[in-house]
Amino acid sequence: KMALRNILEDGDPILRKTCREVDQVTERTQMILDDMVETMRQAQGVGLAAPQVGIVRRMFVAEPQPGELYYFVNPQIVSKEGLQESEEGCLSVPGYVGLVDRPEKIVIKGLDREGNPQEFALEGFPAIVMCHEYDHLDGILYKDKAKEMYELTDAADTTEE
Ligand code: NI
Repeated sequence: KMALRNILEDGDPILRKTCREVDQVTERTQMILDDMVETMRQAQGVGLAAPQVGIVRRMFVAEPQPGELYYFVNPQIVSKEGLQESEEGCLSVPGYVGLVDRPEKIVIKGLDREGNPQEFALEGFPAIVMCHEYDHLDGILYKDKAKEMYELTDAADTTEE
């Protein structure tokens, strides 16, 4: 039932749009979210935002660790604390990683896959992933914020968002 979606790459103007809020979580919304999970996993990513699959709506999925799956519709980062440096990649910016400053801890709220309110206090890697995905909803790519960028060799392996 689920289907893989095509992941847009840097240079596609859709990745630079400010996404609109989701009015209502419908079966169609859930179908898109489920496709995004399948697409993220197939690409061995830890997060995927709707604009990366061409949908200009405020939602993303994230799986910072296997089995720790988050669905976020209309997310809001309500607090940020501290600072951590992260080495990030992005499924829409293949072949690169970069160093980015991110908050150490965040509180993020929004709706879940069923349209119910949810809120999480996260720190470390999950906080990085959420901030990275959230930025996609405002048309921001991690490379815009990166202090340094590195090109990957074919042999390198990294997590991508
Ligand atoms: Ni990304």
